[in-house]
Amino acid sequence: MRKKVTVVGAGNVGANCALRIAGKELADVVLVDIVEGVPQGKGLDILQSGPVEGYDVNIVGSNDYGPTANSDIVVITAGFPRKPGMSRDDLLLANYEIVKAATEQAVKHSPNSILILVTNPLDAMCWTAFQVSKFSKNRVIGMAGVLDTARFRTFIAQELEVSVENVTAMVLGGHGDTMVPLARLTSVSGIPLSELMDQATIDRLVDRARNGGAEIVKYLKTGSAYYAPSSAAVEMVESILKDKKKVLPCAAYLEGEYGIKGLFVGVPVKLGARGIEKIFQLRLSADEQAALQKSAAAVQELVDVMKAKMG
Ligand code: LAC
Repeated sequence: MRKKVTVVGAGNVGANCALRIAGKELADVVLVDIVEGVPQGKGLDILQSGPVEGYDVNIVGSNDYGPTANSDIVVITAGFPRKPGMSRDDLLLANYEIVKAATEQAVKHSPNSILILVTNPLDAMCWTAFQVSKFSKNRVIGMAGVLDTARFRTFIAQELEVSVENVTAMVLGGHGDTMVPLARLTSVSGIPLSELMDQATIDRLVDRARNGGAEIVKYLKTGSAYYAPSSAAVEMVESILKDKKKVLPCAAYLEGEYGIKGLFVGVPVKLGARGIEKIFQLRLSADEQAALQKSAAAVQELVDVMKAKMG
């Protein structure tokens, strides 16, 4: 049986997810958007790259969820992106409605799917999808840590003038200004970062990674990043569809891990055919734990706003 992935939102992030999924021949793709013609046009365009690029998957665009039926994975990217000067949190209420509606439709047509959330504010949108879908917690996952670590890895590789392939990194916490890049667990071919650069340099790169999304928003002015976000989401799609069991930082629903309860926060997880198959609990230093608590508190504030709205 061929695999099927639905991508909700045919904007820059969604279209690039569809393109990358097709390029890796991971699955047939259904691109859904409320704007008439856009998912159909972009879907057809991506399909027509196939003969040249050498991929052989089906891609369709649609304004309704009929063609999405029985998807293995639904990637939700729909929502407003931020503009310069906005934080991801400023998108909360507008994107809450969009993600709620998308989740309702997606799970109606694909009750056995796994949901990957990309819409911001990420951790709060995961919570929304989790509440609305009533899926088990292993089947609702947020994309953020893969992107945040990709940025951190890029800056480290640039600084040291080494291959990005050798740099592995870990980031915890919400996908926001309070995210917690763990320099202690970041290495270059197994060499701890602290052996390779001084603390001031590490701090500078951590800061740049933390503000990596805003740096791009400032350049683009009309929206946020999409090439790296789509790469990150598709790495998660691939790990699930191929049951690779990659260990990746993702937003996961925590029930006491790291002292956090009832919230989605970024932590290292194992991603396989069942979605999140394990949450890794690390022993944190007092500083790291405090930073993670602060990040979780920022996510909690957003969830409280949504709870009040839901009544
Ligand atoms: C970023 C947005 C997509 O980090 O959250 O670029």
